[in-house]
Amino acid sequence: MQTKNNKKIPVILNCDTGIDDAVAILLAVKSKKLDIKLITTDVGNVDPVRSAKNTVNILELIDAPEIPVVRGDGKCFKKERARVAVHGDGGLGEYVFEDTKREVKDTNAVEEMYEALKASDKKVTVICMSPTTNLAKLLTKHKDAVSLIDRVVLMAGTIEEVSDTEMPYPEFNIATDPEAGEALFNSGVKIEIVPMEMGHTAYLDWQEVFKTKMTNLTGSVLEVVFRSYKDRHVKNGIATHDGCAVAYVTNPELFEVKPVNAKIKYFDSIKTGVLTMSFKEEPNCITCVKVNIPKFKNLYFKCLKKCK
Ligand code: RIB
Ligand code: CA
Repeated sequence: MQTKNNKKIPVILNCDTGIDDAVAILLAVKSKKLDIKLITTDVGNVDPVRSAKNTVNILELIDAPEIPVVRGDGKCFKKERARVAVHGDGGLGEYVFEDTKREVKDTNAVEEMYEALKASDKKVTVICMSPTTNLAKLLTKHKDAVSLIDRVVLMAGTIEEVSDTEMPYPEFNIATDPEAGEALFNSGVKIEIVPMEMGHTAYLDWQEVFKTKMTNLTGSVLEVVFRSYKDRHVKNGIATHDGCAVAYVTNPELFEVKPVNAKIKYFDSIKTGVLTMSFKEEPNCITCVKVNIPKFKNLYFKCLKKCK
């Protein structure tokens, strides 16, 4: 069912395409519920130039409409930190894409975000499925951007509650640039968190990855991409972190949410910051706590079947 454009949710996707970012882009485009104004790439799984190329390759693969893609400058907000590549050197595993005619705009991601926000006739949902570096730069440079953003749906962190002296698992999108995460949480923008437990529970097992391959040509390409995903928490399949972040916007009924107190805490032992979440302290945002796994997987295959 085609949703009329004015009923679609205006969104900007901020990503570091990456294998689960590719699933997210598939859901965002094929759900037909989102008016995707812009896709920006950020620091993260691979450098933003590479992830922008990966993004246009995925858009081409799924026959997406023309959507502007702009790469970030690749510099962390305040301090560079080591990154672990779990998506393969190129960011999309072993698959080698032919060159696509689609272009990556050679402009400034932060300014393009700002322009897209100002041009939208409705407040925009920003779905951030990477470190929040572009967003931190936007909200620091353009203070009025907060009033143009409806909410930031943020794939980050873990809802595992730990004592004051323990450290939660250092989820990648925050640990890569915690100062940027801090700037986002201090900006006053509304934040809705999709923590790693969602992608870890709604993971695609190897049978579902094989079913992906057998579904259609697009699935046969994605299966090669998926083979390389090594999220240490998912032993027999691939995590769907970013796919859950998009599904939370297109199909919120699949998720249970709770108010939570979320803040960035620094740990000398790992020389970076971690998103800590507590359900006992005064809430400052909401987080997903549960996902309807079979319905999420049905949504994924429904979107995949709309591809060639
Ligand atoms: O921790 C998972 C997140 O880190 C996902 O967005 C994945 O793509 C990586 O960016
Ligand atoms: Ca990502």
